[in-house]
Amino acid sequence: MRVTSSGETLGATIEGLDLGRPFSDGELDRVVRTLGERGVVRFPGQKLTGRQLADFSARFGELEINVANAYQEPGIPEVMILSNIVEDGRPVGLADAGQDWHTDMSYSRTIAFANVLYGIKIPKRGGRPLGATEFSNMHAAYDGLPEEMKRDLEGMTVLHDFNKFWDMMRREKGSKRPPLTEAQRKAKPPVSHPIFLAHPTTGRRVLYANPGYAVRINELPEKESEQTLEFLFEHQLKPEYRYAFHWQESDVLMWEDIGTIHSAVADYGPHEHRLIKRCQVMATMFQPGEER
Ligand code: SIN
Repeated sequence: MRVTSSGETLGATIEGLDLGRPFSDGELDRVVRTLGERGVVRFPGQKLTGRQLADFSARFGELEINVANAYQEPGIPEVMILSNIVEDGRPVGLADAGQDWHTDMSYSRTIAFANVLYGIKIPKRGGRPLGATEFSNMHAAYDGLPEEMKRDLEGMTVLHDFNKFWDMMRREKGSKRPPLTEAQRKAKPPVSHPIFLAHPTTGRRVLYANPGYAVRINELPEKESEQTLEFLFEHQLKPEYRYAFHWQESDVLMWEDIGTIHSAVADYGPHEHRLIKRCQVMATMFQPGEER
């Protein structure tokens, strides 16, 4: 198993590991350590069934079954299909070309530890891959905050709402996803998490707020909460914290969700096909801390 850093603020490649086969606890530890240090890890040249993707992902924690309860691999609801392909008039997956910045599952009581995505079809134009996934480094964003702000916000909490991102995708990104039903909203009521978390594998502090789901800093008056969130959303996307991942077919891309936020780039059209299978790993094995 060889680990090569991207040389940028995030990103590494791990070669020499077949994710379709069982692997040792030592190898697992090395992947987890690399994830903490580099945030985003690429495993090139993989060939996986949906079952193998789910089994690999489940080594890192319990897998989430998305509340939307759709676009799932038949018989394996933990594997969600992201795709703009339409077969016999029916979309084969959740067909959003592009997104906005967010952290998966910050809206859940048990937050996400990691995402595992398997790139089966990647759109290309002129030989150049499209539909990159972009990341921003929340260890660096915390470190870069003014000291006074770190002190003032310490111990505060942020309210995260699943419906904020879902509605934004429908309103602003032309997503065909239907509005959430009453039952879906009840299943995922807004939840609060500390604004700063101790990362479960690095032990360092991260900024845990994201434009996709964060709606309110609970301990501040409404106006001040709005202004502070606006500042944080701009701060956390400074160019020096950013990393863009350009897909190749057969890549498995794994990122940890506590120290990064991400967004998918919408630079491909409906006939430029993208097919990705995704598992979301909950922070059941690797739980963030709150105390210094
Ligand atoms: C995701 O947010 O999990 C999907 C990102 C992508 O489609 O690149």
